[in-house]
Amino acid sequence: MSFLGKSFLTSEALTDKDLDDLFSRTKLFKQEFKAKGRIHHLMPSLLGQERVVAMVFSEPSTRTRMSFQMAANRLNYRTVSLDNITVSSISKGETFEDTLRNVAAMQPDCMVVRYGTDTSADKVVGDLPFPVINGGIGASEHPTQALLDAYTILENRGKIRGERVLIVGDVLHSRVANSNLILLSKLGAEVAYCAPREFVPIDPRWQSAKHFSDLSEGLKWSTVVMGLRIQKERHGPYQGIGLTIAEYREKYRIGTDQLNMLPPDGISLHPGPVIRGVEFSDHVLADSKCKVLDQVTNGVYVRAALISLIFGVEVNT
Ligand code: CP
Repeated sequence: MSFLGKSFLTSEALTDKDLDDLFSRTKLFKQEFKAKGRIHHLMPSLLGQERVVAMVFSEPSTRTRMSFQMAANRLNYRTVSLDNITVSSISKGETFEDTLRNVAAMQPDCMVVRYGTDTSADKVVGDLPFPVINGGIGASEHPTQALLDAYTILENRGKIRGERVLIVGDVLHSRVANSNLILLSKLGAEVAYCAPREFVPIDPRWQSAKHFSDLSEGLKWSTVVMGLRIQKERHGPYQGIGLTIAEYREKYRIGTDQLNMLPPDGISLHPGPVIRGVEFSDHVLADSKCKVLDQVTNGVYVRAALISLIFGVEVNT
């Protein structure tokens, strides 16, 4: 795709060169921030360059929204944010699509969007005259989460090709799982899943993925395990999970015993928010194999790299 001036809505579009460009810039930004506490000095062309990134989120977010804001601020760009629809004019009856059109009419330089599955909003987003970044759309995709997950695997495991990634939990409703399947497969990892019957993915892209009905078997196979939250907000009114939360914990929660089934240098990931005690135990969250907060840190540099590549900013190395 090459990022320059383009929207970034799906992991499908990424080429090997895009990923090389993005991950090398991510690494540089992270190292430079560690050394000097800033990154914008790497990009002299940022001086005097006014850019505003609009954030339009109709679903809750902590990490994605703030991480894009941090990334834009580290690049010396400004952000404006609509993140609480109860205090927006949506609460007065304006549609989300018209909200997108009105924020677009304010002429931001780029927009990051999050919303539930909505084909009318997809159409508006597709027609906007500036780049739009998918910050999580319905159950379809969350491509920047997959980028930061892949970067975290690369950083901790030294490679992605040949890694065996087990995704555990509500795979059916997970945009994170979909984007990771697409991206990690492209990068040469093998992606498998372990889920209760009700959360087995039906998207044809998952058909060739390995399925473990037993978590222990899956963990013994994997080098990376990724937990997922049960996404009740995407379940239909009559859809249960077929088992109680206590039974879910018993079969799918990753505790110390389960973590120890990974290789000694294996890692555990989770996109967040983590529901403690359901997907991961407190001990797992505190274990050095658990890279959940590294993922969050990496998200800032991955997103700063993405925004700067979309805006065509040259970097001095
Ligand atoms: N990972 C992620 O999308 O988290 P938030 O919902 O907090 O943005």
